[in-house]
Amino acid sequence: MRKTSTLVLGFLLVVAFSMVGMMANQLKANKEEANKKEETTVETPTQVAGIVHNPPSLDDVPDGPLGEAILRGYELTNDTSNVLRSEAPTAADGEARVNELSCTSCHAGAGMEEEVSSLVGMASVYPMYIGRSGQIVTLEERINGCMVRSMNGQKFADDDEDLDAMVAYLTYISEGIPVGADLPWRHQSNMEDVPVPSVADGEKLYQQSCIACHAADGAGTGSNTGPALWGDGSFNDGAGISRMSKMAGYIQHNMPIGAAGTLTDQEASDLAAFILSHDRPEWKNHDKDWPAGGRPTDIIDKERREQIQNGTIDWNEVLGKN
Ligand code: HEC
Ligand code: HEC
Repeated sequence: MRKTSTLVLGFLLVVAFSMVGMMANQLKANKEEANKKEETTVETPTQVAGIVHNPPSLDDVPDGPLGEAILRGYELTNDTSNVLRSEAPTAADGEARVNELSCTSCHAGAGMEEEVSSLVGMASVYPMYIGRSGQIVTLEERINGCMVRSMNGQKFADDDEDLDAMVAYLTYISEGIPVGADLPWRHQSNMEDVPVPSVADGEKLYQQSCIACHAADGAGTGSNTGPALWGDGSFNDGAGISRMSKMAGYIQHNMPIGAAGTLTDQEASDLAAFILSHDRPEWKNHDKDWPAGGRPTDIIDKERREQIQNGTIDWNEVLGKN
């Protein structure tokens, strides 16, 4: 009996959610139509692919060990630095383990916000080939990739229960998404054609629009309120967001919070160049990345930072405009 009513309730919830989703999509479509009058057809990719961004609520995790793992995975994703540092044997171990960021610092809402580098569906698309690694990468390896680069820390060991917990969480929020699905919300924060930046303009804009949350020295106000943008507590220069295309795309798409989408590509590029011109931890294995070729030109490593600082950088070369 109980099972049946849970099923019925579950079904009703799914129906209700999809209706809300459809209404939201319709609203979005209407808005887009109003914006782009010259276009005759308006496509909402979520509808076209039949794949909806609708992760299940954490209130519904199953009882027992699996549910516990999912909730632990959520905590680790949402509050990575505080959780891992507080459980490290010493403060120094904690600092070596992970920087001051959380996964939420870039994947908002522990990866459940559709617009900000959502992690919904990742358990359905990995393993997959990654050019930077030159091989097929599992979800565990992809998480560890962000641990050593974006989190400037250490990998989880293969048998670490915390790694299993993160996978359990990402699997939970991928529920209902078919294996190998083309996710319309992936790779949104990428700028294809980055304008040549002015670092000085970026600095001015940073002071107007960003310091309230990210602080004048870039060290931020907290991993989930305004994460560190540069300096020791931030990501290292092997992270994806150390590339001009990803940083400018992320800023244009998501920042400043509350007014996302208001910056022009030029402004986002100016800000990206200003942010990436500052010192940050170095990634030691740049030479091992992109083993099969195709290394992007817009990675801002130490040499490039120095070139920005002393004004010798060739932006056309960095941004592939030659
Ligand atoms: C400083 C920003 C930042 C932080 C912090 C960060 N990531 Fe990422 N992450 C990125 C960027 C940028 C990408 C690449 C997105 C793209 O390719 O467009 C990415 C990609 C990923 C992907 C693959 C996404 C895809 O579509 O293939 C996964 C999975 C992931 N991150 C997990 C995590 C986890 C788990 C954490 C915390 C341990 C984390 N990330 C922390 C910036 C970050
Ligand atoms: C109201 C506070 C607020 C303002 C203002 C703001 N941010 Fe953020 N920023 C955040 C939060 C919170 C995050 C974490 C991700 C999220 O929640 O969307 C974030 C994440 C980021 C990230 C990725 C994380 C990292 O450590 O690199 C970048 C880059 C960034 N902001 C740049 C900017 C820039 C540039 C501006 C000014 C145009 C700006 N932000 C204005 C709050 C803010």
